[in-house]
Amino acid sequence: MTELTHAEAVPLDDPEMPAVHEQLIVFARELGELYRLERARSSELEKVLERLQESYLATMKSLAQVIEAKDQTTHGHLERTQAYGIALARRIDPALVDRPAVGYGFFLHDIGKVGIPEHILGKEGPLDAGEWDVMRRHPVLGAQIVAPISFLEEAVELIRHHHEWFDGTGYPDRLAGEEIPLEARIFSVADSFDAMTSDRPYRRRMELAPALDEITTGAGTQFDPEVVKVFVEMVEAAPPSDDHRHLRAVV
Ligand SMILES: [Fe+2]
Repeated sequence: MTELTHAEAVPLDDPEMPAVHEQLIVFARELGELYRLERARSSELEKVLERLQESYLATMKSLAQVIEAKDQTTHGHLERTQAYGIALARRIDPALVDRPAVGYGFFLHDIGKVGIPEHILGKEGPLDAGEWDVMRRHPVLGAQIVAPISFLEEAVELIRHHHEWFDGTGYPDRLAGEEIPLEARIFSVADSFDAMTSDRPYRRRMELAPALDEITTGAGTQFDPEVVKVFVEMVEAAPPSDDHRHLRAVV
């Protein structure tokens, strides 16, 4: 038995051929149009999603800035810490910087302070033991605030673990060494350095050299020694300007 060829199945002189051909062309056009509409719709959806993310982020950033205003941190701490953190992350693992949520996490790290009473947050002078217990809840509160926002998912771990210590004596989970997410180990150095080199109502800021000494002393206890090494090299290569408003060449 011979196989049926295409030419035999649809003879070229079939009188229905032009109509089939015509139908195929119409069908192809409709498909093209459908494809174009789908593309337009999905790019419209992407734009809406982008706008939604931007407005979520703007709300979160405003909230973070409200906390900064109430907290005893110096104005600009969030931007500077984010800049230090990103510059340091770029040197340690550039793939981290490709994840926008990591940068957002640097900015939103203390968002949980929104749940800390103002008399504790704004207290001038040292906190007592009970007040510290309350203050130490802010990383968990922050992680809970950010967790439902899907595009910030990757920032949750950083926010939760930004006060862990390399030797396992930090909070909230007493993670140690590489159990602490790398972005949190990086952030912890950047955050502490900015806190040390900024004026607070109850103390003057430290100069660059003693601050770097203190960071180095904390290698292995508070901080990841590898992260400290890269941080010190980075700051020595391009020290921040006097008013610490920005990191010159390092960012
Ligand atoms: Fe914090």
